[in-house]
Amino acid sequence: MKKITEYTDKELREAVDILLDNGHVMFHEQYLTQDELIEFCRRIGDTNDSNPSMGHMEFNPKDNPDLSIITTQPVGKSPHGMFGPTDLVYHGDGGMCHFGEFKELLTGLYCVGSCPDTVLSLLNTNKAFTEFSEEEKEYWRNVETQLNMKEKGIYGTIEEKNRDGSMKAIDGAQEAYKCPIYHYGDERQNVVNIHPYTGKEFMLWQPAFVDKAWYKGEPISVDEIQDKFRKALVRGKNITDFVLREGDFLICDQYYTLHRRSWVQSSDRVIWRPAFDYSNILGPDSAYNPSIEDKKYISRQKANKV
Ligand SMILES: [Fe+2]
Repeated sequence: MKKITEYTDKELREAVDILLDNGHVMFHEQYLTQDELIEFCRRIGDTNDSNPSMGHMEFNPKDNPDLSIITTQPVGKSPHGMFGPTDLVYHGDGGMCHFGEFKELLTGLYCVGSCPDTVLSLLNTNKAFTEFSEEEKEYWRNVETQLNMKEKGIYGTIEEKNRDGSMKAIDGAQEAYKCPIYHYGDERQNVVNIHPYTGKEFMLWQPAFVDKAWYKGEPISVDEIQDKFRKALVRGKNITDFVLREGDFLICDQYYTLHRRSWVQSSDRVIWRPAFDYSNILGPDSAYNPSIEDKKYISRQKANKV
């Protein structure tokens, strides 16, 4: 396996094309330092993400703050990096952001240490949408949602959420990523959107965060639409399962794929996670609205008062 640090520009572009075709790309047998990993990601895009829920957290390594450490071992002031051993339900790392409200379209998962019992599942909503009947496509094009943080977040249960101390206040630092964005009133997004770099349709579904829903402009039941989402998307043909092993580096596109993770059984599992965009290799994201950054700040202030 060629080391990605030695990729020519042409090889890098080919890898990005695979990523855009499949929603993910996997590199095996890498064995990178943190610096090498970040340097590689920066050839694709900006790693210095602004989304507070994906960005510089208290427990990120001080000399490589663009990496979050996902582990059950103590990291910095956190008892276990992000998330601890809990299982995590399907989500995209845009969290409760609507389409165009986040720019870190890429999540990288580099495996430093493995847990053979932990399965990471990727669900491709572009593939799912492509294979729908015309009638199904038309139905989903008429559905809109509003996303907000809900009780359990991306955790399987409230107990699991409470068990994880990593996302709770650490010396008051929690404010910065407690609630990166909040939508009010009738604020909404289309469920079916066009990927800014491929022009292909995909579905933006965040099972943990659907707060309101509309069909042809009329409010509809959130429970019913969640059930429809699940039946339409959570199918074997749309899902690829991975067990990450040492030296594996997986990059997934957050518009095309959702991911879920089963319980971590071994404390050996350590993942370095950069969040980045396509801007250095493919240019700016035409869907991204930078004015959202101000709104995120205002939303946090408002949401903290709610
Ligand atoms: Fe995630």
